Amino acid sequence: MKFPILIINFKAYENSYGEKALQLSKSIDKVARESGIEIVVAVPSTMIHRISKEVSIPVFAQHVDAVPEGAHTGAVTPEMIKEAGAAGTLVNHSERRVRADEIDDVIKRSRRLGLETIVCVDRYELVVPIGLLGPDAILVEPPELIGTGVSVSRARPEVITNAVEMVQKVKGLKLIVGAGISTGDDVYTSIKLGAHGIGVASAVMKSKDPSKVVREFVEGAKRAVSERI
Ligand code: G3P
Repeated sequence: MKFPILIINFKAYENSYGEKALQLSKSIDKVARESGIEIVVAVPSTMIHRISKEVSIPVFAQHVDAVPEGAHTGAVTPEMIKEAGAAGTLVNHSERRVRADEIDDVIKRSRRLGLETIVCVDRYELVVPIGLLGPDAILVEPPELIGTGVSVSRARPEVITNAVEMVQKVKGLKLIVGAGISTGDDVYTSIKLGAHGIGVASAVMKSKDPSKVVREFVEGAKRAVSERI
């Protein structure tokens, strides 16, 4: 993963699968290539193979099951997403919580497989305890703002500043923030406050012109980075 980074979580929106998801991924891939900003798409596991064959950006799973290979009907394991072409996975999203021992198992197995992990937490107090398990990045998202269009950077900037302080205590750990991110300014502010990137879903997935939104986000990220130097 390269930073700053934008994580676009397709969730299960009506354009998260099939031809629509493929076209959306290709348009995001184009923005990433033209801008040089790292963009990850987290797609339904049924789409990992199809999308990863067609784009150069990293394709992530949204969740994997912490079960060993064997008799586990319906399970999607880290080994399966690796074989399908994923570069990594989200873990413990607010909409898909898992136990701490499962987070630990997924991080360890993923690392052995060469998969990256972004573990989601719902508060900054969890950045250090979960960060010490060794994921590549932590995504902090106040659940009450998810899908609201009211961004964490506007409504709860202290979540970002506190998380920035916490992430510095864990060597090599990167901080991503999300929930309600809707504009280039939200991305700008998040990165200016010290985050290494943002996570987003609804502002892109529900837009009539998703690549315009992604371009705006990329501009916000670039502006923040240029002012840091
Ligand atoms: O994983 C990112 C996501 O939970 C944020 O959702 O719709 O608030 O951008 P949204």
